[in-house]
Amino acid sequence: NKPVRIAPSILSADFANLGNEIHACQGADLIHIDVMDGHFVPNITIGPLVVSSVKKITQTPLDVHLMIQRPEEYLEAFATAGADILTVHIEAATHLHRVVQQIRDLGKSPGVSLNPATPLCAIEEILPELDMVLIMSVNPGFGGQKFIPASLDKIRRLRAMIEATGKEISIEVDGGVTPANIAEVYKAGADTFVAGSAVFSTSNYSLTIQQMRIECQG
Ligand code: DX5
Ligand code: ZN
Repeated sequence: NKPVRIAPSILSADFANLGNEIHACQGADLIHIDVMDGHFVPNITIGPLVVSSVKKITQTPLDVHLMIQRPEEYLEAFATAGADILTVHIEAATHLHRVVQQIRDLGKSPGVSLNPATPLCAIEEILPELDMVLIMSVNPGFGGQKFIPASLDKIRRLRAMIEATGKEISIEVDGGVTPANIAEVYKAGADTFVAGSAVFSTSNYSLTIQQMRIECQG
């Protein structure tokens, strides 16, 4: 049985009460932080300042999802702020190989994300250098969207590509993951699950996280 990591996305949390919201996510494997610049995606969220505040109040590793243009200019700031995983979008990085090396040199774990319309062949060359591939199962920018069903087949094909490398590379899925569909996404080959609205719309975040884990393993 492959491991399951649940990563609540604070995009759907109450930002005026962020510390308590994160503490209420007990049992989470990662805290997913969505960084949006208003250029790469049509929304603006948070920067390194918030990441460093979050770092001070939790031991849970921070999974920082950069939905920004020119990610290379901000990697150091997010690394210093306390990111553990730094994921960049392939559509936003012209020199992706260099960006991935920069993340390694900063001592952080590199991930690369693909939008729904970006084909898997785009990461063929860089795949062996990565710790994680993030498959977007919605178009990035907002929480609470519906899971795009074609993502399941993409995850299956990515799992086969990863097996062919012989390396241990995580598949994270982001967008529209809920307790009702997580088992199917897990079976397709994902091991790391972002959940924003599915966690923060419930009254007991910790219980929802636990339920999602059980759905995969059960
Ligand atoms: C979307 C973000 C997601 C978002 C997911 O652009 O990358 O991390 O928070 O939200 P849900 O789980 O509600 O689809
Ligand atoms: Zn995200």
